[in-house]
Amino acid sequence: MSDTFDFDDENEGGQRKASLRQVAAFMWKHWSSQPLKLALFGLFFGLAVAADLAFPFASARLVETLTAGPTEDGRRAAAAGYGVVALLALVFYMARNIGVRFWIPFASNNMERIVSDGFRDVQRFSSDWHADNFAGATVRRVSRAMNAYDVISDTMVWYMLPAGAVLIGVTAMTFVQWPAIGLFTGGAIAAFLLAAYLMGRFYIARPLREYIKADTAIGAALADAVTSNATVKSFGAEAREQARFDAIVGRWRAEANRTWRRSTDSWVLQNMLLFILQAGLLGLVLLEWSRGRATAGDAVFAITSFLLVSGYLRMLGENVQNLQKGVADIEDVVAYAAERADVVDRPGARAFKPGKGEIAFEAVSFGYKNAAENLYRDFSLEVAAGETVALVGPTGAGKSTFVKLVQRLYDVNGGVIRIDGQDVRDVTQASLRRSIALVPQDPALFHRSLRENIAYARPDAPMEDVIAAARRARAHDFIAALPNGYETEVGERGVKLSGGERQRVALARAFLADAPILILDEATSSLDVATERDVQAAMAELKQGRTTIVIAHRLSTIREADRILVFNQGRIVEQGKHAELIDAHGLYAKLNAMSRGELLADEAA
Ligand SMILES: Nc1ncnc2c1ncn2[C@@H]1O[C@H](COP(=O)(O)OP(=O)(O)OP(=O)(O)O)[C@@H](O)[C@H]1O
Ligand SMILES: [Mg+2]
Repeated sequence: MSDTFDFDDENEGGQRKASLRQVAAFMWKHWSSQPLKLALFGLFFGLAVAADLAFPFASARLVETLTAGPTEDGRRAAAAGYGVVALLALVFYMARNIGVRFWIPFASNNMERIVSDGFRDVQRFSSDWHADNFAGATVRRVSRAMNAYDVISDTMVWYMLPAGAVLIGVTAMTFVQWPAIGLFTGGAIAAFLLAAYLMGRFYIARPLREYIKADTAIGAALADAVTSNATVKSFGAEAREQARFDAIVGRWRAEANRTWRRSTDSWVLQNMLLFILQAGLLGLVLLEWSRGRATAGDAVFAITSFLLVSGYLRMLGENVQNLQKGVADIEDVVAYAAERADVVDRPGARAFKPGKGEIAFEAVSFGYKNAAENLYRDFSLEVAAGETVALVGPTGAGKSTFVKLVQRLYDVNGGVIRIDGQDVRDVTQASLRRSIALVPQDPALFHRSLRENIAYARPDAPMEDVIAAARRARAHDFIAALPNGYETEVGERGVKLSGGERQRVALARAFLADAPILILDEATSSLDVATERDVQAAMAELKQGRTTIVIAHRLSTIREADRILVFNQGRIVEQGKHAELIDAHGLYAKLNAMSRGELLADEAA
């Protein structure tokens, strides 16, 4: 069954993704970003805590006045005591409620920033990173971090800080009056905190992390199966996918049970300590009373403060678990922030200065991360400005890789790639890629309107330009025939379009980009022969004044290229014009003969 559990992507490899210190620094960065709101909140919240702390005192005083009996003075004192107790309660509620008003925007601003930063981090990661990670897992991690922030700060600021203040305050107050009891209270509280920490650290942390891993795996598995739903359907494999998913959810259930059970164990221990504290405190004060060293008011003081303390401690005990879960939940995104992307802009990298579109590979070597050996070894090539170059060759020969390297989706292991004389590593990635219009081998559209999809390179392009590009790509007619025309939404990745329609939208998008370099990776492979010919005629004028790289298996489409490069296993084995290559009787001539012999071409290659 091991294959059922392989929804851990590479981010789940290690034990812990970010250290506690990193998490703390991350939280602090966000907390300290809005000092005014935080200070105002702290002011009112501090006031509430102070009112809470004064409560046992005020209660004790009130009871003292009552024990004197309902004399004239006694009544007045009782009324005053009542006023104080009531006022403290009122101050407590008011201050808390005002404090919350400052807390709300403080919290939502930070959550907004965390999710936005998370998205920025994910966007900056390399193509390799994205290939290694489940989209669903990433989505789950980033969205979980938002809530985790909320849980951590609520726990720390709402529960732990006030609890800490109240505990220290009560211990100090008790200590002043009865040092021995104060020591007992302090010791019991310390034992409570230590127990909560030790249980969290050594008993709960590990299952908790497994539990979160299982939670991430649910996101990964769901997204993986849902996005490939068409495949699942076509193989009638729903039951199999259901079983696979259920196994993953089953793992989550097992981990959740373990974690929650252990949390409950931890509560039991904490509750016991709490009981010892409560019973001990009251018992000791009564003992003092029996020796004539404490009054009825003192007993009231002890009872009220233990109610107060136990209320805070209970909140604390419950929230220690939340805090721990929050920290574990946010670790992924904290690690994102610290992670270096594989392909980064050099510090001070300048914008790419588009020229005429000259491309030069100088002694380039490159291999994919996990490949046994380099795909490209000592690869050199020059493409002149304005030239139309065709890349052909068997599948897996490294043609699409060539395109990815030009775009600098990967960094080379050796050698240099220059475009218009600029090393691709010296310029910003975004500016470089904006100078390259690409129709990829498997174009994916956004689930947005056709207009937005076509105008993706130039979002502010006027509608006439969008339509002109669509006409060139022979996409206008089918778009115009749709009830909503250019406003039609195309479905996720463009699933509501036919393969050829999707391809023509991708072509229109590249045409509109109007970049000095145009790259077409199997860009017309899904079109019928007549449409393909039309698109090529339209392309002929587009090629004017720009460098064009065309990758094609259908050799009939690239005959007119200035130069044909025949790739095999990451090397250029032949190059020249169509006629020259035919005469050379090499790989090209063979591929050509086979493609004329139809359909066998791909197999034989
Ligand atoms: N992201 C990746 N990680 C690891 N290996 C990869 C990756 N992308 C491609 N490869 C491998 O690199 C080799 C070259 O792939 P490439 O996509 O460049 O081939 P191609 O010439 O475009 O083939 P096709 O004609 O089938 O599109 C293949 O063996 C492929 O398995
Ligand atoms: Mg390819």
